[in-house]
Amino acid sequence: MPIDTSGTFKLGARSVKRLGYGAMQLAGPGVFGPPKDRAAAVAVLREAVARGVNHIDTSDFYGPHVTNQIIKEALHPYPDDLTIVTKISARRGADGSWIPAMSPAELTQAVHDNLRHLGVDVLDVVNLRSMLDVHGPKEGSLEAPLTVLADLQRKGLIRDMGMSNVTARQVADGNKITKIACVQNQYNVAHRDDDALIDDLARDGVAYVPFFPLGGFTPLQSSTLNDVAKGLGATPMQVALAWLLRRSPNILLIPGTSSVAHLKENLAAAEIDLPDDAMAALNGIASAA
Ligand SMILES: NC(=O)c1ccc[n+]([C@@H]2O[C@H](COP(=O)([O-])OP(=O)(O)OC[C@H]3O[C@@H](n4cnc5c(N)ncnc54)[C@H](OP(=O)(O)O)[C@@H]3O)[C@@H](O)[C@H]2O)c1
Repeated sequence: MPIDTSGTFKLGARSVKRLGYGAMQLAGPGVFGPPKDRAAAVAVLREAVARGVNHIDTSDFYGPHVTNQIIKEALHPYPDDLTIVTKISARRGADGSWIPAMSPAELTQAVHDNLRHLGVDVLDVVNLRSMLDVHGPKEGSLEAPLTVLADLQRKGLIRDMGMSNVTARQVADGNKITKIACVQNQYNVAHRDDDALIDDLARDGVAYVPFFPLGGFTPLQSSTLNDVAKGLGATPMQVALAWLLRRSPNILLIPGTSSVAHLKENLAAAEIDLPDDAMAALNGIASAA
């Protein structure tokens, strides 16, 4: 299949294709409530798997519960090679706000909610998503919540643990509690705070999964992206993904979309081989930002 072109990388105990899918866009506006068109959301997930995607990122706080329920409706019973990664540490207020939920009882409840809504006995990968600052990594101890999740991992409810929205120090401290299989932070061609962390994780064979690979709620806009895309006969979003694929072999992509057309476009980025001069031009975007 075309997405095989960009290869695989280890995500905990398994290998997954480097082009995956992020399910956050399948909930309603503001990642709250049901989507406008549930059948369309189901269709996006089925198309992703039909095109070879075997890594889907989700959370029970998308909706809340909505995204996981749609994944179950669309794909259960799951293909043997599908890895579903969820994240835990927040709940949603009645107004859609994101509220930290990192007490032992809340974390345990969240693991059981994910198991039930996804319809599985074991969660493939759980990211502890730091809520010390909702908007970005902030130093501070995550020992208490990680210890709770590591305990649930030992009980067999979680296969692999990851961390999200975290600093390099928090990852190093996390590894003293349980093996951290992946890190999921904000990163893209224009937002490169994690350059050093990515290289360190690559050296250790640990997956780095950038969220907002296309810019998230503010999609990337750059004349350099447009120019490179034009020269290659690709779209700017495809070039942004191809840049990430070439940036480091441990980067796994989970671009989010609610549209089958965008999904097809994004997966086709696996076949783009960025030439050195395009890479150099794109590397200039972050320093110019
Ligand atoms: N750990 C965390 O804290 C965290 C935070 C945010 C997200 N995530 C995860 O990361 C995944 C990716 O992030 P994201 O979905 O927020 O952001 P993203 O992948 O950077 O971008 C998604 C946005 O780009 C649009 N889009 C997608 N493909 C496109 C294309 N080919 N052309 C034009 N527009 C396109 C989508 O709209 P359409 O629906 O119209 O295509 C959507 O508005 C999420 O699904 C979620 O699983 C994790």
